[in-house]
Amino acid sequence: MEYLVMLPGPTNVPDRVMRAMHAPMINHRSDDFVGLYERCVESTKRVFCTSGDAVCLSASGTGAVEAGVVNVVQKGDKVIIPVNGEFSGRLAQMIEWAGGDVVKVETPPGRSATLDEIREAFDNNPDTRAFYCVWNETSTGTMIKYLDRIKDLTSRNDAMYIVDGVSIVGGEELQMDKWGVDVAMTGSQKALAAPPGISPICVSARAKRHMVANPPRSMYFNLARYFKYYEEARHTPFTPALPLLYAYREALEIILEEGLEARIERHRACSRALYAGLGAIGLSPFAEVDSRSTVVIALNYLDGLEDARFRGTLASRFRVLVAGGFGDLKGSVFRVGCMGEVGRYHVMRTISAISSTLAMMGHATDTQAGLEAAESELRGLG
Ligand SMILES: Cc1ncc(COP(=O)(O)O)c(C=O)c1O
Repeated sequence: MEYLVMLPGPTNVPDRVMRAMHAPMINHRSDDFVGLYERCVESTKRVFCTSGDAVCLSASGTGAVEAGVVNVVQKGDKVIIPVNGEFSGRLAQMIEWAGGDVVKVETPPGRSATLDEIREAFDNNPDTRAFYCVWNETSTGTMIKYLDRIKDLTSRNDAMYIVDGVSIVGGEELQMDKWGVDVAMTGSQKALAAPPGISPICVSARAKRHMVANPPRSMYFNLARYFKYYEEARHTPFTPALPLLYAYREALEIILEEGLEARIERHRACSRALYAGLGAIGLSPFAEVDSRSTVVIALNYLDGLEDARFRGTLASRFRVLVAGGFGDLKGSVFRVGCMGEVGRYHVMRTISAISSTLAMMGHATDTQAGLEAAESELRGLG
């Protein structure tokens, strides 16, 4: 029996998307490819709400994040970045490796930096060249909720604004152009509900100019090369993962058919339902209330609950997959993804399976209270 994949990626992939991969090989230097790739690019831009450029890299999310660093950061550039977990830590590391002079705004793992803390960093560093952030810190279940207000800070001296949206784009609102975001990326296996392997990166006109004028010493992640091939022939410079692009195109069709607004509302309702339902069976969220993510719900383990046994039982007895904690949080939290194909069925089955697993492991729970609390948040979904 198939798993219910409630991980913070990969997520459940609709059959329609899986079937799209079952297509004959084509020449990636032909009109067949042009039709496929152009659609991927255009739909990506609609999901990111940008009129800029999009590149659909054949890579995991880290590839797109790395591209967003090496194509922007120049040696000695001062870069502000909030850090409160594994992925923001990795991003800060990549920026340092690219020669950036990193100013970290560090907060504890369950809390995102406040806008005031970010403003203070800008006040103290008027020579800042770029602001980077991990929108959704997947490792801790926190998210930044003021992406629409960063432009006031970056526009002080035209600093670049870069958003690692790897676990959240498609599940929450992103208005790249309106919010003044210069570069943003995600991975196909998260809220886009496609298989892993395609990672789109979107780039504003001014960021593109910067990238073309300052190409990085990287062959695969040289975005100027992708722009050139696209402009000249609607091709990619290197051999793309064709079956994955078919799946990716189909996943984006589904997103656009549903409509971005409806999709985001559905994600938010499911996330409220998961917090409410899991709370009602006695679990507490790891993240502070103002920082809580709508797409990754990190929960504290109850005393005496052993991570591998809990998740192993949930997977083998109930076919529900959730993720463990990262780094220092390993063994003390687990994480439930609320991304892509989430609806009433996914939420209810997850809550009841977790509740049953807890009961099997000696922690009495009230499953009915959990399901009722969740249902009260899901009424609007139909
Ligand atoms: C915020 C964030 N950035 C980057 C990544 C890296 O993505 P990948 O594992 O696809 O390389 C992840 C993966 O979970 C993530 O959540």
